Amino acid sequence: MVNDPSPRWLRSPVDGARPGLAFGADYNPEQWPREVWREDVRAMNAAGVTVVALAIFSWARIQPAEDEWNFAWLDEVMDLLHEHGIAVNLATATASPPPWLTTARPDILPVDQEGRTRWPGARQHWRPTSPVFREHALVLVRAMAERYKDHPALAAWHVSNELGCHNIYDYSDDAARAFRAWLRRRYGTLDALNAAWATTFWSQHYSAWEQILPPRLAAASSYPNPAQQLDFKRFSSDALKDHLRAERDILRELTPDVPVTTNFMVMDGISGMDYADWAAEVDFVSNDHYVVPGPQAQDDLSFSANLTGNLAPDRPWYLMEHSTSAVNWQPVNLAKPDGAMARDSLTHVAHGADAVCFFQWRQSAGGAEKYHSAMLPHAGEDSAVFRAVCDLGAALRDLAPVAGAPRKPARAAILFDWQSWWTAELDSHPSSLLRYRQEALDWYSAFLAEGVRADVVPAGHALDGYDLVVAPILHVVPEALARRLRAYVNGGGHLVTTYFSGIVDENDRVWLGGYPGALRDLLGIRIEEFGPLPADQTVELEGGSVGTLWTDRIDLTDPAVQVLATYKSGEQAGRPAITLRRTAAGSAAYVSTRLGPEGLRPVLAGLLEIGGLRSELPARFRGRVELAVRATDDAEFWFLINRTADAVDLGGVDGQVLYGGDDQVLGPRGVRILRRPR
Ligand code: GLA
Ligand code: GLA
Repeated sequence: MVNDPSPRWLRSPVDGARPGLAFGADYNPEQWPREVWREDVRAMNAAGVTVVALAIFSWARIQPAEDEWNFAWLDEVMDLLHEHGIAVNLATATASPPPWLTTARPDILPVDQEGRTRWPGARQHWRPTSPVFREHALVLVRAMAERYKDHPALAAWHVSNELGCHNIYDYSDDAARAFRAWLRRRYGTLDALNAAWATTFWSQHYSAWEQILPPRLAAASSYPNPAQQLDFKRFSSDALKDHLRAERDILRELTPDVPVTTNFMVMDGISGMDYADWAAEVDFVSNDHYVVPGPQAQDDLSFSANLTGNLAPDRPWYLMEHSTSAVNWQPVNLAKPDGAMARDSLTHVAHGADAVCFFQWRQSAGGAEKYHSAMLPHAGEDSAVFRAVCDLGAALRDLAPVAGAPRKPARAAILFDWQSWWTAELDSHPSSLLRYRQEALDWYSAFLAEGVRADVVPAGHALDGYDLVVAPILHVVPEALARRLRAYVNGGGHLVTTYFSGIVDENDRVWLGGYPGALRDLLGIRIEEFGPLPADQTVELEGGSVGTLWTDRIDLTDPAVQVLATYKSGEQAGRPAITLRRTAAGSAAYVSTRLGPEGLRPVLAGLLEIGGLRSELPARFRGRVELAVRATDDAEFWFLINRTADAVDLGGVDGQVLYGGDDQVLGPRGVRILRRPR
């Protein structure tokens, strides 16, 4: 990047050069006696480990009391790793405050919506806005940076850990104070806040800032003000972002040459942090991803990796954590079948990851995560998991040419918008069954099934490079976004959006005159009432697809609008279900029901044709194989990932094989990586 003085990737402690694909794990040596550390580094070398994340949960060990510091053990581990050529992504160690601190200052403990304290005993029990916590954490950050700033093993800084995993929403008095300050900055005056929050409703008018609270548990069966809830979500994301910045600023002051990152959680079930907004705060984006079993588990992995790569599109990213096999936090924790670990890892690489790391190096013998898999399992080195880990390490070494190669942009994009996610799923809506991320994932699955690559991009991303943009449940459409979408379509772009899109502005205030207010003219339709469906009800469309969750009573307002599909059953029978308005060179389509990944597939096929997009894959294995592409000036790296449980014949796609064997057949869960000249 021009004029950007900060380091943007790991520096190799061995020769200062840019490493190939990094490989490693969280390393928690404090859980083991010193003799084991020697075993660890030897086995790490055997496995091809090049980097570990260290000291993530070490606060109590490093600072056993407020005025007592113990770095000796960590010095020894840092030295030992360095002697073995292993780089350290060193945590600031602030993730989990020690008992001496929570005992002395229980006012750092978070408070839930019902006013209950979240007690110590697990981890991440701290208020993002506590000045007391912040002060103690920053003392530790400074001590860590002072201690290790010149250590040759130090390759990157790892701020805290999974910020917001357990403490995103805190309703304490500290939070209330910080929320008010945040609101003052956002609105300037109480009048502006009262207008934005529509406080004439239910007698909520504020006459002094001190009256404003976080949306704490409200009267039974009632609903806190939705604009207040939405601003509290924005504030909560910002509060943790502030914490990230506070730690980062100290690190940049003391070690300007060492890149700073923190591990995001772009994955199923995590919505509180607006990572599109956070990405610019770190030198490189890192992500943690865990597979949640289900019919779309692999699609979700690809979707998450793709979105992670698009948070900072011009830079490589770091897969900080995933699992070699089972986790410990699902209702039933499934071991990964043979081949799945490598397939999962390489799918992340396919979408731009230049580091592949796991939680964790050595499986714990005690503590809450003792049944969570690791690179070195309870069974020891003589195990299938460890052998697969060694194979993966060797494979990543051979894939060094891929390192640094940017992802090749797709011609289609799916917009992903945290504001719409938060707002569309607020309470007191037409349906509580709507799931924002699921709808976006369903479209992504449909693209995979059609064998067409799609980028998952934040809503602020430039659209002009894309021929087709799908904006699922784009619920929040401020005027500026509406203008961008109009310009995109009028400029020849093909836009697709769905039910409950274009409904409100940035303050969750409805665009009047008929839905979807902000997009009504662009789509050439008007909806007077929503038609959500009960959980057990479906509607049929002509042609056989089945809708669930939602319908709309659509009137066409522009005679040029084409009806692509009609409802066959239900309240809207005979009326439009899917519409398309063409502009001079572009188009704007609307899908008014949830079709699911299967049902979207034929719809998408039609839209792809309208947008002039085709699969880059031979028809024979389209949909059965995922394609992701990274490209340099002179070569493309094609990642072909078997999505099925059967072998797939890859005949017809040529290239120099970098991974995955060179016979025609790609086995179940197989990955083939080809280098093709441009
Ligand atoms: C009750 C209340 C009204 C309104 C309706 C909504 O009847 O008195 O203010 O909230 O419910 O159904
Ligand atoms: C998170 C944490 C790790 C570990 C894993 C378990 O990603 O960052 O410390 O708890 O989950 O899956």
